Amino acid sequence: MSKKIFSGVQPTGNLHLGNYIGAIKNFVDLQNQKENECIFCVVDLHAITVKQDPHELKKNIRETTATFLASGINSEKSIIFNQSLVPAHCEGSWILGCVARMGWLNRMTQFKEKAGKDKEKASVGLYIYPVLMAADILLYDATHVPVGEDQKQHLELSRDIAQKFNLDFRSNNFLKVPEPLIQKNFSRIMSLKDGKKKMSKSDPSDFSRINMRDEKDIIVNKIKKAKTDTDPMPSDEEHLKKRPEIENLFGIYSSLSNQSLKNTINDFSNKNFSVFKNKLAEVIVGKISPISSEIRKLDKDPEFIDNVLRSGAEKAEKIAKNKVKELKKIVGF
Ligand code: AMP
Ligand code: TRP
Repeated sequence: MSKKIFSGVQPTGNLHLGNYIGAIKNFVDLQNQKENECIFCVVDLHAITVKQDPHELKKNIRETTATFLASGINSEKSIIFNQSLVPAHCEGSWILGCVARMGWLNRMTQFKEKAGKDKEKASVGLYIYPVLMAADILLYDATHVPVGEDQKQHLELSRDIAQKFNLDFRSNNFLKVPEPLIQKNFSRIMSLKDGKKKMSKSDPSDFSRINMRDEKDIIVNKIKKAKTDTDPMPSDEEHLKKRPEIENLFGIYSSLSNQSLKNTINDFSNKNFSVFKNKLAEVIVGKISPISSEIRKLDKDPEFIDNVLRSGAEKAEKIAKNKVKELKKIVGF
């Protein structure tokens, strides 16, 4: 069955291996299944829910786009654009914000995490962030949304908003209820320094993550320093359960070499940790280095990147504008 795919990534710098394994790698796989229609959005409106330096933001919009392209997203096959070029996202978001309930938003764990202790000081934008995300998805009648595990709750909110809108306005199936596409395995890549914290752009320690731009030597060094424990090599999956750091490293290895965790465990069960780490670094370098050298090439041609975004936005606008027009009609405008 053909799928309409929509997903977004925030242009907030430091794209890392978690973004690649949890999201971008799947974007490429989905795009390469011929029957799918894919839209990938650089969600710059979401980025400004926390303070951004305008100069850095501009740079990061190009950086995220370059990472999409370098990873294999093809602007001929898929629509690639940045959100702020298509005003329908804001219009749609306002209408959907009048459907979403405070109680629903109050349950969003990402807001609680990002706002921290002093919620009063968080931006209103950060609070209504999931409503804008719902607009992104629903304006394109997306059937499937590939995201990492951390976005599952936001996806459920998008589904609730679509269902409530359809019910409130008796417009059965006007907003399509999207399905999340979350990988069963390796959907949450953890910090290299703490297996209980997710790998994140905002972790102050650069040694906690592999950045998509990291050079070979840096990757090797980061893996060498990655936290492990003093237990012997795991011999089965059960043995990994209480060892989050090892489980994470084994997960990264399995995902990048497209094999099951079980096979990875078998491959290394009677080897030394240093042997595993060397192999892991090799596999990561093998995947990341061609992408980072392509990103560096694209750095030299910002105009090309801007053109990709502009022409993607033209295509996106046609779809989203039309949906907002119908949305407004249904609401009574
Ligand atoms: P963000 O950088 O927060 O815009 O995330 C972009 C995409 O990467 C989303 O689909 C996230 O779910 C995914 N993602 C971010 N961090 C991780 C991680 N540590 N492990 C797996 N997926 C992630
Ligand atoms: N909230 C998502 C994240 O932080 C990014 C995002 C915005 C998104 N709009 C979206 C993802 C629509 C999927 C679909 O990762």
